Amino acid sequence: MSKKKIGIGFGTWAWGNKLVWGYKSETDDILLKKTFFDAIDGGLDLVDSADSYGTGSLFGQSEKLIGDFLEEFPKRKLKKITIATKLAPFPWRIGRNGLNKAFQESNRRLKGNMTRVQLHWSTFRYAPWQEEQLLNGLGDLYEKGLIKEIGLSNTGPKRLHFLYQKMKERGIKINSIQMQLSLLTKPSLEDENIKNICAENKIEYLAYSPLGLGILTIPPNKSPKNTTFLRQKLFQRILPKTIELRKLMNNIAKKYSASQAQVALNWVRSHGAKPIVGIRNPSQAKDAISALNWSLTKSEKEKLDFFRSKCLANMPQNPFTSP
Ligand SMILES: NC(=O)c1ccc[n+]([C@@H]2O[C@H](COP(=O)([O-])OP(=O)(O)OC[C@H]3O[C@@H](n4cnc5c(N)ncnc54)[C@H](OP(=O)(O)O)[C@@H]3O)[C@@H](O)[C@H]2O)c1
Repeated sequence: MSKKKIGIGFGTWAWGNKLVWGYKSETDDILLKKTFFDAIDGGLDLVDSADSYGTGSLFGQSEKLIGDFLEEFPKRKLKKITIATKLAPFPWRIGRNGLNKAFQESNRRLKGNMTRVQLHWSTFRYAPWQEEQLLNGLGDLYEKGLIKEIGLSNTGPKRLHFLYQKMKERGIKINSIQMQLSLLTKPSLEDENIKNICAENKIEYLAYSPLGLGILTIPPNKSPKNTTFLRQKLFQRILPKTIELRKLMNNIAKKYSASQAQVALNWVRSHGAKPIVGIRNPSQAKDAISALNWSLTKSEKEKLDFFRSKCLANMPQNPFTSP
């Protein structure tokens, strides 16, 4: 698999999120700026954000930081990357125009640099009538030339197929679908179906949380460094049940003089999806960039698939994910 075929993007959920990630505002921002520029200079070609990234008074903080950083970014280089954000279909964002205000606010925070808008999750399980309306609203913004690309997230294969066709009837393409996919997600037929729909229709398949929030980067004989209470709980549950998988990852990593993070990212790529990795510092950016320089062999991929299928613990799924 060549570097050109499937790239790597990076996500910014942590950038402003105190609860899950312990973000400390200004102290972190200087580091994040360097992370951002290093990542793009190194070839990570998609930046993922969301209007809900940033907790409490920091609502929208991730988009704000990206917008600020982009002010110093050469415009000619901007054409080579995708700046993607997600709009949350909160229950008070109702009907065809329900996301208009949110779009305007995100666009303002991103200083007009938005390439792609994604519907953050499917409302199909609790307000099925909303999903098509909200998406049609994004279609209206597209037709007015206000947004360039549209994507979905946390939408299963049935709805993806349905919504893709509906938008196609309007002459609008769904450019991407973003789902959780990693060595720690439970293997499912849905994953395969999504992969096939994406391949058939040239939809970009984006894999979020490819490192299982960092669990997959922890060597089999090591304990995690201090982290937030919420992440600690998850780590404590999953780590003891993933030792064999992480041993295998560690062995493969050694063969390529790489890191376990790189093995996790390249496993995602070997499944036809583009990982969006959550990076928080320049060394994590550098590590992700290095993953672009090599790929897993078929037998390494299959061995990892096998250990994944035997794994006794999995990452929790987004409960809103539609069929
Ligand atoms: N569509 C959705 O509903 C949805 C949901 C979740 C995430 N996402 C997107 O996907 C992105 C990535 O997912 P994620 O941030 O949840 O999880 P992730 O990429 O699986 O894990 C990110 C964490 O892994 C650790 N890490 C990153 N690079 C590393 C390296 N080279 N070596 C060691 N540790 C490393 C960092 O932990 P430390 O912080 O401890 O350094 C980082 O915070 C998000 O930022 C977001 O854009 C989308």
